[in-house]
Amino acid sequence: MKTRTVLFVDDEIQILNVLKRLLRVEPYQAFFAESGQEALSILEKETIHVIVTDLGMPKMDGLTLLKQVQERYPDIIRLVISARDDRDSILNAINKGNVYGYIVKPWNNMELRLILRQAIDHFNLQQERRDLLKKLEEHNRLLEKRVEDRTKQLLAIEKQAEIGKHASHIVHNLNSPLHAIRGGLDLAHLELSDENPDLKEAVNYLHMIQSSTSDLEKIIAGILTHLRDKTLFKTEQIDINEIIKRELEFFKLNPIYKHQIEKKIDLSDNLPGIQGNPIHIKQIIDNLLKNAIDAMEHSQEKRLAVETCLEDKAVLIRISDTGEGIAEEDLPKIYSPHFTTKPIGKGTGLGLASVKAMVDAYSGDIQVESKKGKGTTLIVRIPIERPIFQD
Ligand SMILES: Nc1ncnc2c1ncn2[C@@H]1O[C@H](COP(=O)(O)OP(=O)(O)OP(=O)(O)O)[C@@H](O)[C@H]1O
Ligand SMILES: [Mg+2]
Repeated sequence: MKTRTVLFVDDEIQILNVLKRLLRVEPYQAFFAESGQEALSILEKETIHVIVTDLGMPKMDGLTLLKQVQERYPDIIRLVISARDDRDSILNAINKGNVYGYIVKPWNNMELRLILRQAIDHFNLQQERRDLLKKLEEHNRLLEKRVEDRTKQLLAIEKQAEIGKHASHIVHNLNSPLHAIRGGLDLAHLELSDENPDLKEAVNYLHMIQSSTSDLEKIIAGILTHLRDKTLFKTEQIDINEIIKRELEFFKLNPIYKHQIEKKIDLSDNLPGIQGNPIHIKQIIDNLLKNAIDAMEHSQEKRLAVETCLEDKAVLIRISDTGEGIAEEDLPKIYSPHFTTKPIGKGTGLGLASVKAMVDAYSGDIQVESKKGKGTTLIVRIPIERPIFQD
């Protein structure tokens, strides 16, 4: 089976007949047309790989035909067969880059066969090249798709890792309002089971439960927003004193705090509001107060001092206790995640690590002064004018 085809176009029928005889045994199928029009109609029906045309023909000349072939069938290899006196036209055709080669009449049979076989080889090479390009394009498309899929996977993994990195802080911060809710529920239950329940007190506990529940919601919402985009975390004008008062109120649920600890609260009247998220400030204060109260559990003297003041365009929060204090060698470790001297189940060691992370987010700082057996003071400084989450 001859898979390749050559179309000869010449208005001289004798020439076509000679070609017909001459090329019968060649490894391609030959088609013959006596005019440009006939050639075009053959091209419509047959798949032609090489076209060889005479130049001077009535109606449609060879160059016009080749131009149309080039436009409609760009893959076809084009050749000219023409008499020597057509030299200028042949040169013209070649210069325009429109033809692969030319055959001069009268031709040498050997040369004619050779150039036609070369044209077929040329077509085969072009075809191979096109196939390779197609495969390459397909390959590229697959590769791009793979890169895209992989990138998506990596981004998802990164996001998970980011969440994982914060998970311990998150759990820790969720724990305190949760404990408060449980404590509030127990106390409300206790109060209401009494023969003469103090309804006012019970309502207070319900308020605490309500506010801690909304804290939980806010923390969860905040974390989600924070993970997606730090700048989306909602901020508002915060009255730090107000938050401290509420938190202290809340610690009354702790009987040691309520009945044994002597409290000295000194909140500055001229404290400016700061821009931020109240949940952060609450968590900072809550963690520091909890540590101070825990530290005094077994100490003789139980005195807690909470103080706020304005200093150098920053709000200072100072929380002092007369608790067990921190050993000098432990001082550099207290902000490390998981450092705790508390028994298993009591402390996670994440409190101060998360306080430090939050204070950092406000471009603030935290200092500690402590003496073993004497007590501890923690001072948090939050600048009034600073964008939150400035890196
Ligand atoms: N006011 C304080 N007095 C004495 N030691 C303190 C005080 N604050 C912190 N520490 C020491 O620093 C350690 C780390 O505190 P941090 O708040 O990070 O964790 P924790 O209190 O042990 O656990 P959690 O906060 O989860 O309850 C504490 O275990 C304790 O040894
Ligand atoms: Mg703590």
